[in-house]
Amino acid sequence: MQPIRIGILGVGTVGGGVVKLLQNNADEVARRLGRKVVITRAADRNTDHAQRLCDSTVAVTDNINDVVNADDVDIVVELIGGSTISKEAVIRAIQNGKHVVTANKKLLAEHGNELFRLAELQNVMLMFEAAVAGGIPIIKALREGLAANHIQSIAGIINGTSNFILSEMRAHGSAFADVLKEAQDLGYAEADPTFDIEGHDAAHKLSIMSALAFGTPINFNQCYMEGISRLESQDIRYAEELGYRIKLLGITRKTENGIELRVHPTLIPTGRLLANVEGVMNAVLVQADMVQETLYYGPGAGAAATASAVVADIIDISRLLDAASDNRVPYLAFQPYQMQAIPVLDMGDITSGYYLRVCAKDEPGVLGEIANILANEQISIEALIQKGVISHETAEIVILTHTTQEKQIQAAIANIEALPRVFPSVIMIRMESLHGGK
Ligand code: HSE
Repeated sequence: MQPIRIGILGVGTVGGGVVKLLQNNADEVARRLGRKVVITRAADRNTDHAQRLCDSTVAVTDNINDVVNADDVDIVVELIGGSTISKEAVIRAIQNGKHVVTANKKLLAEHGNELFRLAELQNVMLMFEAAVAGGIPIIKALREGLAANHIQSIAGIINGTSNFILSEMRAHGSAFADVLKEAQDLGYAEADPTFDIEGHDAAHKLSIMSALAFGTPINFNQCYMEGISRLESQDIRYAEELGYRIKLLGITRKTENGIELRVHPTLIPTGRLLANVEGVMNAVLVQADMVQETLYYGPGAGAAATASAVVADIIDISRLLDAASDNRVPYLAFQPYQMQAIPVLDMGDITSGYYLRVCAKDEPGVLGEIANILANEQISIEALIQKGVISHETAEIVILTHTTQEKQIQAAIANIEALPRVFPSVIMIRMESLHGGK
């Protein structure tokens, strides 16, 4: 059989990983596929560097068109990142009838609906296993392995940089800014770490998973995002004392009224496996009606792990090249004509447990006033501790609530902050038991 011919766009960390994998594991890949996979072309701004990584048979260029327009390329692998040049390149590749593999979650989160429509029109495959949770085959699991289920919810640690920072803050009691610097020195966090620490990267990945789970268009624009940059180390410590760990979770859940789609720091019980995912590792917990809970754990980034996912997609496409398009796995798991526009819930309408930290005068009756406000909003208290006097006459009170609607906790917080003996501001962190999809 003729080899499958690959054109790579971007020979950086992940692109270099793909080149290396296809060199080192060439025989194993060919044993599985029944034919060889060869890179014929590669485009990168730094052609010297790219040529050094690639075999001498690879035509290296700094012009993307030399790859996407080439007759000797069957599959274009987009590893440029961002959503401008990459979008143009992917569109051109699709229009030229090339199948595409991308690791680009930003591109798919922002423009996936349009790109999948175009791919369908052009009858080409567009695969993206590497876009979510790096080396974990979570796209395959959601799209194929769990295809017999109604998926109910997904909760994931899907940003390794944030998870590393939270793990270090907990282990050493360090402040956020200090650990961020450490993460940058270690090369985990970008020089501009906003995307990782403010939840954008996790939101990109979550909105892709949500679409796959529920058969809806990708709803990234409606995803709630709250990062970890404002977390204080004492909240991590208090949570630990109460039997919880704080993780940056991406959560999507199908309810009767719509879909929850949110990324934020979350308290989860220490005994849950997800709470024990440390450092840069990723994990995704999926709740579905038949299988109940399944958990997927592994490296969410890194050249080799991400290349593993990219090449798996190349193998999948190669196997289906001659299959009728009706027999392909749908891009977003459901037949395109079966996609449903389910509304994304406003944050006020989601339900969650809540951790509140209130700073107040240490005087008789203050606790009673706070408890009254919660009771008036029908909010039930799960635990309440006074963390002692932090300065003369000032106490910190930590409250955990049972599940309630977010608009009720917001109303309660506003009323608590209005109490004359409470100091601004009340700290609020959401809390999930992760049992039964809740
Ligand atoms: N920057 C991401 C992370 C990896 O920290 O997990 C790539 O998605």
